[in-house]
Amino acid sequence: MISQNTIDKILEASDITEVIGEYVTLKRRGVNMMGNCPFHNEKTPSFVVSPTKGIFKCFGCGRAGNSVGFIMEHNALSYPEALRWLASKYHIEIEEDEVNRDEILAQKSDREALLAALSFANKYFIGNLHDDPEGVSIGKSYFLERGLREDTLKNFELGYAKRSWNDFADSAISNQLDPEILIKAGLIKKREKKEDDNEEESYYDVYRDRVTFPIHDIAGRVIAFGARQLNKEDKGPKYINSPENDVYHKSKVLYGMFQAKKAIRKKDNCYLTEGYLDVITLHQNGIENVVASSGTSLTTEQVKLIGRFTDNVTVLYDGDPAGIKAAMRGTDIILENNLNIKIVLFPEGEDPDSLCKKIGADAFSKYITDNQQDFILFKTNHLLSESKNDPIKKAQVIRDVVESIAKVPDSIKRSVFIKETAVRLETDERVLISEANRIRLKDNEKAAKQIDREIENLVSNENGFSEIEINSGEFKEYAIIKALILFGKETMDEEITVLQYLLNELVSNKIEFEKEEYSNILKVVEEQNKNMGFVDEFFYKNHEKISSLASGIILDSQKYLLSENWEKIAEIKVLTDKENYRKEITQNVLYLKKEHINNLIKINAEKLKNASDVDEVNSLLEIQTRILMLRKELLKETGTSITDV
Ligand code: CTP
Ligand code: MN
Repeated sequence: MISQNTIDKILEASDITEVIGEYVTLKRRGVNMMGNCPFHNEKTPSFVVSPTKGIFKCFGCGRAGNSVGFIMEHNALSYPEALRWLASKYHIEIEEDEVNRDEILAQKSDREALLAALSFANKYFIGNLHDDPEGVSIGKSYFLERGLREDTLKNFELGYAKRSWNDFADSAISNQLDPEILIKAGLIKKREKKEDDNEEESYYDVYRDRVTFPIHDIAGRVIAFGARQLNKEDKGPKYINSPENDVYHKSKVLYGMFQAKKAIRKKDNCYLTEGYLDVITLHQNGIENVVASSGTSLTTEQVKLIGRFTDNVTVLYDGDPAGIKAAMRGTDIILENNLNIKIVLFPEGEDPDSLCKKIGADAFSKYITDNQQDFILFKTNHLLSESKNDPIKKAQVIRDVVESIAKVPDSIKRSVFIKETAVRLETDERVLISEANRIRLKDNEKAAKQIDREIENLVSNENGFSEIEINSGEFKEYAIIKALILFGKETMDEEITVLQYLLNELVSNKIEFEKEEYSNILKVVEEQNKNMGFVDEFFYKNHEKISSLASGIILDSQKYLLSENWEKIAEIKVLTDKENYRKEITQNVLYLKKEHINNLIKINAEKLKNASDVDEVNSLLEIQTRILMLRKELLKETGTSITDV
């Protein structure tokens, strides 16, 4: 387990604007920063970062937390994984608490084991390419012949898998990697045993006599490989790709995104190519905002991934019929996600890799600028050239093009497209508008059903706010936790603080929250108070289990700081909050007590129903009377009438 000392160091070093700023463009707004939320699709920013408090919250999707929480969510890491990630970013050495080390190793999840195996394989293949005689003479010379530089090989971590049947398997297994995991990672396979074969299990390598391209996730970890054969005459497929598993979901990944993301944000544009070599060659030539779909058709998840960094995609595809078809297929998905698409077709037989090598970086960039067409115009022109003035075919062209335009969510963009196409197709604009509306109406019905389903999911979601609104008891519990976090150090009366008051009233009376998460918070807070004598905001917003909730609450209370004249509003807001918190806390605590007593009465009544002997009945009756007395007292205090109970 990572020591508390190390965790503190990591928290101290992890500047929230720096950590988040790597993924989200933040603009200052009042005392806070705002940007587009990386966790859901949005066009107007609702993602707030407080540099002074070191926390974030999205007012759109509700996600909140500190730097660690952000990295967990964004890079899909566990709590310790996220701490390690930040530690390595800030060069902090990790101390482990000895006691738990074995335990942790034993519980290493499949995901972590897969990542470890892939990382081992990556180092092994890279080592082959640079240090092994066979790797150098076959693998490295292949890349050098294709015009790649030494620094490019290193940057993309290219490697070589040897001709041997089991050099990798032997090396990995002798390094304590679990064969089952290596199989899951798609790196080795089990050799079929013959009958009566008493020999031990044996394994062979999946990648042999191939160069390797590691595929990184957005945090830079290797999650898969593509391995290319070296000669056209070789048997087997041109590429062998990793299978899907716990760490690799093909539809969510774009090759090169890890290396390209900064440049994509800076250039505010993403070049989308087809192949590994396209990405690598362009990079080597200083064009870094480029990723590859790896020869498969684009998915919504991949488009959303691009959308986290830019609204603009330029598709660079082969100019042959297959390339045009591929381009057409991907583009509707891009349009649906409200990104802008341009398209560049290459001379037949050329791809970005070959053309860039042939004419050089400057001419290549010029080629892109000169040949990029807006997608809708491209589609119109392409279809028109095929229809050759046949009026029936032309009607079909109009329908096809409008079908694409109808997918664009932004109405202004849509009307610009319609104007342009009306001119190009020599058609009445109104015809196009009504056709687009007809298609949108049809699509909307489908979408409405989808939204219904999503709302249902949200309501049943464990941290959806709608749940709190439905259950007013839970809302009161939430209000108490909120008061604890925001006003814990304020006074409740002359003698005690809000924190002490709540601990007295709730913990001492053994009143538990319905919602387990809140009960657990109270336990943790009590423990901390016992040890330290106080609990401060730093504790709430950085505690593994409380951070997300607390950060959300703290930034919620600061929402008004986002306004233009925030200073004035903040003053008023703080005043009213301070006037009200005592009253609110007392009322909510009374409510919980009342609930608690009602529960006791119910439980006791149930026991009475089932009680068999006289003594038991008598003692239960006595208890019941006492509880009823308590309730009476409580009602006097709250001023609620009996019928409320
Ligand atoms: N691809 C694949 N499996 C294949 C062929 C292609 O996974 N059998 C994917 C690879 O990701 C490849 C991309 O599709 O990078 C584009 O294919 P292609 O243009 O044939 O390959 P290149 O990588 O461009 O290879 P080269 O330039 O060496 O021919
Ligand atoms: Mn190629």
